[in-house]
Amino acid sequence: MSYKQTKVLTVDNVSGDLKKLSVIKDAALWIKNGEVVAFPTETVYGLGGNVFLDEAISQIFEAKGRPQDNPLIIHIASKSQALDLIGAPPAYAELLMDQFWPGPLTLVCVSKQKVSEYVTAGLHTVAIRVPDHPVALALIEEAGVPIAAPSANRSGKPSPTTACHVFHDLNGKIMAIVDGGSTGVGVESTVVDCTGEIPIILRPGGVTKEQIEQVVGTVGIDKALFEKSAAPKSPGMKYTHYAPNAPLQLVEGGTERIQQLIIEKQGEGMRVGVLATEESQTSYQADVVLACGQRAHLQTVAQKLYEVLRVFDEENVDVIFSETFPQEGVGLAIMNRLEKAASGIIIR
Ligand code: TXA
Ligand code: MG
Repeated sequence: MSYKQTKVLTVDNVSGDLKKLSVIKDAALWIKNGEVVAFPTETVYGLGGNVFLDEAISQIFEAKGRPQDNPLIIHIASKSQALDLIGAPPAYAELLMDQFWPGPLTLVCVSKQKVSEYVTAGLHTVAIRVPDHPVALALIEEAGVPIAAPSANRSGKPSPTTACHVFHDLNGKIMAIVDGGSTGVGVESTVVDCTGEIPIILRPGGVTKEQIEQVVGTVGIDKALFEKSAAPKSPGMKYTHYAPNAPLQLVEGGTERIQQLIIEKQGEGMRVGVLATEESQTSYQADVVLACGQRAHLQTVAQKLYEVLRVFDEENVDVIFSETFPQEGVGLAIMNRLEKAASGIIIR
């Protein structure tokens, strides 16, 4: 499917009853009838389609250039709408729904197989979440159907945190984008497998492992997140992702080690970028130094991460060196995304 130009519908004020707005009514009707439309969630922008229509779901895969074996997350507006789509969940899964929905937590549960088989890529499970964003919730309610939505980027690129990012990647490939401003969390939802005795984190994200532990006690983590040899249980985790055009290398060992590497690469005639923080940015003499939030507040790093990766593309650098972050709280998600962007290359 191609469009002359993708429409951008702006929601200026995201408070009040959004379902009354004509932009929400239009976008919801398009989704219900099988078009795909990008919209903001609290994590990143999603590319939404009606879960019951095969054509809408295949159009999502086509617009993104997404591999067919990578299933989508279904967005619903309430726990009861979730229970319509899944077999009886374990008690801990209901605790997680009650505690974290709406919010950046996706639960993988046994599917009742009501949705298009393209949504689940033929798996017997389905991934669901209630997003914590007024625009997303208004669209789901007004469309009257659950909305399947992966992140609204071209496959392999950093996820979009503004409507501008979506337009850059998908203009002409989708009918419309609902612009609700910048997203807040900045990294995607945490994906948790709820089909076994205990919950297992398949993808770290906006809700932290520590927060989940407080609610349900023991939480596992898919070992494929740390061991390259293991096959990930979440199909999406096996692909290279979030990659800027220039190779990105994660560097342990502090600002001095990075400055040495900058000098080496500049000596070879390269244009060098550094992903730094507000605290460290003045420590580097490189061609492009970008502050990605404050190290003292990792949430701000998560918020800016994808935007900063995209700016390096505009700056045409030849190589990017990135600082590393502690793997605690949202730092686990930040490091997971950076490792993927770096194709696993860490300079120690
Ligand atoms: O924050 C988010 O989760 C965003 C916003 C738009 O909601 N969405 C998002 O979707 O990140 P996507 O498609 O980029 O990532 C979905 C992840 C993939 O890693 C996919 O493999 C996994 O969820 N997933 C989906 N269904 C699954 C299933 N049945 N079993 C295991 N993993 C699944
Ligand atoms: Mg994605």
